[in-house]
Amino acid sequence: MTDHETDQPTGTKTVLVTGASSGIGEATARELAAAGHTVVLAARRADRLERVAADITAAGGRAGTAVLDVTDADAFRRVVDAVVAEHGHLDVLVANSGVMLLSPMTSLLADEWDRMVDVNVKGVLHGLAAALPHFLRQGSGHVVTTASIAAHSVVPTAAVYSATKYAVRALMEGLRQDLPAGVRTTTISPGVVESELATHITDPTASAGMDVYRRAAIPPAAIGRAVAYAVGESADVDVNELVVRPAAQRP
Ligand SMILES: NC(=O)c1ccc[n+]([C@@H]2O[C@H](COP(=O)([O-])OP(=O)(O)OC[C@H]3O[C@@H](n4cnc5c(N)ncnc54)[C@H](OP(=O)(O)O)[C@@H]3O)[C@@H](O)[C@H]2O)c1
Repeated sequence: MTDHETDQPTGTKTVLVTGASSGIGEATARELAAAGHTVVLAARRADRLERVAADITAAGGRAGTAVLDVTDADAFRRVVDAVVAEHGHLDVLVANSGVMLLSPMTSLLADEWDRMVDVNVKGVLHGLAAALPHFLRQGSGHVVTTASIAAHSVVPTAAVYSATKYAVRALMEGLRQDLPAGVRTTTISPGVVESELATHITDPTASAGMDVYRRAAIPPAAIGRAVAYAVGESADVDVNELVVRPAAQRP
């Protein structure tokens, strides 16, 4: 039995996951590897990537690593090209890297606004620029991105973060319409999920608000399972958008 997209044995897609050194990306890599896929874990922290890849390998999975700063378009292209050179193809790009540096606009943390745009929006675009040439040549592929419930509504302190996630959702919908049928797009919008995401917030007002807001957080494996579901669907089914939030989360 072979996979529709790659003629590989079923369940052995090659998947590049960015932001795989912690949180949702790490959990996604673990879930995909457990489902039989070959995963390449990318992010900046090499030690963390190696540790997760070693765990996956010890559990019988297939995992490699690539140190990558997604704000560097050339580096992203080199990583994708190296994956294709090693495995013969890339089947799925999970463009998951992101930062959430919440603050009221009045705090004027303009450097943090830039960083969110650079990682959350331009980092995804760099991934598309790197992966799409291969997907178009192959006639198959799958782009998965991690947006957020912040891509569906805006709350105080989240203006720029939300703007980046609305941008990713818009980008993915436009991408879907521009692509040939063999190349699929999935946008996952998580609610509150356990991860390191909120630990990088520097604004004291936004940081204090997170303590209460994040109490309902669910494990990142819940998002990993959603990605695995979308990736595992047959090639004629495109799971375009999923919202996955804690059952206890309000709003
Ligand atoms: N947790 C939530 O509640 C939640 C909710 C909705 C959406 N999300 C989204 O989910 C995604 C993953 O976040 P998370 O919650 O898992 O947080 P996390 O634990 O902080 O993970 C963020 C990941 O992004 C990577 N990253 C950051 N800057 C990068 C860069 N310049 N180049 C490459 N990788 C970079 C980090 O790795 P390195 O530092 O090693 O590079 C890390 O692996 C983000 O897009 C986030 O916006 C999260």
